[in-house]
Amino acid sequence: MYTILDDAARRARRYLEQLPTRSVAPGAAALRALTELDEPFPPQPCDPAETLALLDRVVSPATMAMAGPRFFGFVIGGALPVSVAATWLAAAWDQNAGFYEVTPGVSRLEEVVLRWLTALFDLPPSSGAGFVSGATVANFTALAAARHAVLSRAGWNVEADGLFGAPPITVVAGAEAHPTLLKSLGMLGLGRSRLVRVPVDGRGCMRADALPQLAAPAIVCLQAGNVNTGSFDPFIPLIEQAHAAGAWVHVDGAFGLWAKAAPSLRPLADGLERADSWATDAHKWLNVPYDSGLAFCRDAHALRAAMAITADYLPTESQHRNPSDFTPELSRRARGVEVWAALRSLGRAGLAELVERNCRQARRFAQGLRASGHEILNEVESNQVLVAFGDAQRTRGVVAALQQEGTCWCGPTVWQGRTAMRISVSSWATTDEDVDRSLEAMRRAAELASGS
Ligand SMILES: Cc1ncc(COP(=O)(O)O)c(C=O)c1O
Repeated sequence: MYTILDDAARRARRYLEQLPTRSVAPGAAALRALTELDEPFPPQPCDPAETLALLDRVVSPATMAMAGPRFFGFVIGGALPVSVAATWLAAAWDQNAGFYEVTPGVSRLEEVVLRWLTALFDLPPSSGAGFVSGATVANFTALAAARHAVLSRAGWNVEADGLFGAPPITVVAGAEAHPTLLKSLGMLGLGRSRLVRVPVDGRGCMRADALPQLAAPAIVCLQAGNVNTGSFDPFIPLIEQAHAAGAWVHVDGAFGLWAKAAPSLRPLADGLERADSWATDAHKWLNVPYDSGLAFCRDAHALRAAMAITADYLPTESQHRNPSDFTPELSRRARGVEVWAALRSLGRAGLAELVERNCRQARRFAQGLRASGHEILNEVESNQVLVAFGDAQRTRGVVAALQQEGTCWCGPTVWQGRTAMRISVSSWATTDEDVDRSLEAMRRAAELASGS
């Protein structure tokens, strides 16, 4: 019965081994073949082995090679083989990781991971934290704790009474905050548009001299790692001003929090540990499979107050940390497993090497493109590069040609009024040779676009 797992392992291994040599984007034939999936819901059971074979035959070729070495779109880490393997094992365990009492093994593993990560990020060891699906939900979770704390100080219980009639909260974010942060604020009833936007400088960082006068209740959202430029807000002056006004400070560090792991990047992240809450992703720079994010909160009580529930049938009483006291979800998979496996197998030195190598590779991209006469729009401070190949239309043409050619994959963006191609280097699998091969492909795409 379980031989199907061997078959899956064999197929997955073949898929991963072919990634470096296949087109990064799926080809037209693979996309056309997806019509094979359009069958009616089978009235009778289908053979599991044949079902898996169909999945592999039809869907594997139609995937984007995000786990491969030359995918530079969005901010997408690959998946370290040990973290894929650990996820498989955890899937076999099929633990509902909500409660310590019923899932002690994976709950303990989460405690270990949180101990390691709070130390790595310089956060207080007593912080509360939860494993969630990604930075969007990590921002939501941490900001729910912020909402609880600032309203509770104003004498309002938001969990019990909601926001109708509550004291208004001033919410502040930079002009280049990630759109998902705004979505999280909207889901919390704090509004996507009513927030105060603070202007940014020429690097995309919030200007400390432009932070408005604040009065509690207030929440200030800062950013470690601008999705376009990879730059970091000036945490020390901003947090000092915000705290002096009694505001809660949250840091969206979806990928930037990992700068704390790399000696050469730590200065960029200096002072973020003084904030009150933080969000990050493990599926980005830690290179674990989707989906995996973490929310941290200096005041564990505020996070618990926003997230915990009790019910007679639920084993919520425990002397241990109950995982679901810190997350929006009650039932969820044991996300800590692959995070633990990745951290343990890399160690501090391996993680530092991964982060620093990707940043060095981003600079290699920038140097190579500059040498070919293309314009680099940002100061490459971490792992993000913005390149323009002339005007908006031409740049979009190069991006389209590059995606079509298949050596690598990058996406377009518009940053501070300029259309650019984004190169985001976040994968353990990327070698310097992959960078050079991709640079060649970019040069070819640029020539093609100027010829057309
Ligand atoms: C700064 C920042 N915040 C939030 C997010 C959203 O992360 P996720 O897609 O994991 O929810 C991203 C994604 O790239 C990001 O770069």
